[in-house]
Amino acid sequence: MQPPQTTPRTSSADRTPSRTPNDTDAPVIEVEDVWFHYGDTLIVAGAQLEVRRGERVAILGSTGAGKSTLLNLLIGTIKPDRGRVTITGLPPYDRPKEIFGRFSIAFQSPRLLPWRTALDNVALGLEILGSSRAESREVARTWLTHVGLADALHLYPTQLSGGMKQRASLARAFSVRPEVLFLDEAFSALDEVTAERLRQDFHALSTQENQTAVIVTHNIDEALFLADRILVLGRPGRVIGEVSAKTVDWKNDPALAAGVRAEIVELMRRPQAAAQQRVEA
Ligand SMILES: Nc1ncnc2c1ncn2[C@@H]1O[C@H](COP(=O)(O)OP(=O)(O)OP(=O)(O)O)[C@@H](O)[C@H]1O
Ligand SMILES: [Mg+2]
Repeated sequence: MQPPQTTPRTSSADRTPSRTPNDTDAPVIEVEDVWFHYGDTLIVAGAQLEVRRGERVAILGSTGAGKSTLLNLLIGTIKPDRGRVTITGLPPYDRPKEIFGRFSIAFQSPRLLPWRTALDNVALGLEILGSSRAESREVARTWLTHVGLADALHLYPTQLSGGMKQRASLARAFSVRPEVLFLDEAFSALDEVTAERLRQDFHALSTQENQTAVIVTHNIDEALFLADRILVLGRPGRVIGEVSAKTVDWKNDPALAAGVRAEIVELMRRPQAAAQQRVEA
């Protein structure tokens, strides 16, 4: 069994500083030596990662590791104290208008507007991005059908089960055809059977769409199932291990997958020590 691989380090001198959004070879997301504090508390400590077009990358870490904070840095709701974040070639905090519409997010709670039907909730994002009402509703109908809600288009959120609401949230996230789709613990509030079904549907749809996705989760099995690549976050937030389905074929080898899982558990149990190991290596 191969252990999770330590994230390779790349010096800033190796990187092109100003990539344009149209450069298809450029990573869709770049995080370079990013540091962030809340008050005096160090939350993200030298995070470094890349996500390439079409990749599904899981950011996996125990609770409080800084996953959501890292996500907020990626979407520009907070600014790094130090280091560089770009999404589709642009710094998200400084250029929010230009990245508007290039990404979408499905959160742990579905965040549907209670006064709008499932159809109109999904259509809203498209309308905000400039599509006509008729076109938005047509696209919304298609995506709600893809996620199995063809019979629930005209139901209000109070009339939907938790799983159905989360399906509507996924439909909304896919419908805007984002360059990056983020999941932040999107399945963790659901019972395991429902969560498993949604994971399978998400996996099928994102594969079909070649959707670049960042899956933020504390669930190892979810990361193993959904991602092409898993970045394990230590605390404070930094990448302390990486597992790639490209170099390690654990997806088709249950015994290997179990071994990889055990390695990840070990890393998540002692994030400080693991972070230290990597720094010393
Ligand atoms: N707005 C905030 N102000 C101050 N501290 C914060 C704030 N948001 C998060 N923190 C702190 O930052 C640390 C990381 O929190 P974060 O929410 O990023 O963790 P997480 O990995 O997403 O955890 P979980 O798996 O529970 O969602 C925690 O110690 C948390 O208390
Ligand atoms: Mg979180």
